[in-house]
Amino acid sequence: MKTILYEHLERPIYNSDLLDRLDPKKFITRYCLNLSPSNPGPGLKVRPLKTSDYETGFLELLSQLTVVGEIEEEKFLERFSTMELCPNSYYITVIEDTIINKVIGTGTLIVEQKFIHNCAVRGRIEDIVISDEYRGRQLGKLLIATLTLLGEELKCYKVSLECKDSMVPYYTSLGFRNEAGNSNYLQIRFPL
Ligand SMILES: CC(C)(COP(=O)(O)OP(=O)(O)OC[C@H]1O[C@@H](n2cnc3c(N)ncnc32)[C@H](O)[C@@H]1OP(=O)(O)O)[C@@H](O)C(=O)NCCC(=O)NCCS
Repeated sequence: MKTILYEHLERPIYNSDLLDRLDPKKFITRYCLNLSPSNPGPGLKVRPLKTSDYETGFLELLSQLTVVGEIEEEKFLERFSTMELCPNSYYITVIEDTIINKVIGTGTLIVEQKFIHNCAVRGRIEDIVISDEYRGRQLGKLLIATLTLLGEELKCYKVSLECKDSMVPYYTSLGFRNEAGNSNYLQIRFPL
């Protein structure tokens, strides 16, 4: 009975206190950005993904980035729980338009546990998307700055991302660099 009740409680994928620890001054000095998680703009809120976000357009938003597929709520909650079983790993962050109760932006910081560098941790930024009608308002920049500073706060020794060639200028403007001799990205794809 307890388990069933717990399944229905709204819960965040990580502790939102972490976002409060990010220094708003760093958004100004490093990114020339007057927005921060504590001040994302009128009617907006930056917060961790929650179990209730099945209802707030999170998956529909991701489909503006790539193929998502038909995901039932049960499957969504199952995947959420699997991520929760890897604590301190999945920092899925969303921007919500609180006036219409819709998720309009999302991005993920994944923190990987390593043995190298004296048991260090490293971050990867994934799945960045801002809903088309909210683009051009610096919200993508806010999201990436938030995830990068979260990586710093969590003591990652580096944060990296993969992107299309056309996005290189965008991420370069946000501090990411192609390191000479160390910036190849290779992959093998398997049919799903
Ligand atoms: C990429 C994306 C997240 C940008 O979000 P956004 O909120 O519109 O971007 P911002 O308003 O924060 O843009 C900040 C700056 O970057 C610039 N910019 C935006 N997209 C850019 C691009 N593709 N290349 C270069 N610069 C870009 C903007 O012109 C703006 O410049 P300014 O500060 O001089 O005004 C958004 O367009 C999106 O969701 N695209 C579809 C999904 C996608 O491609 N995700 C990234 C996968 S790697």
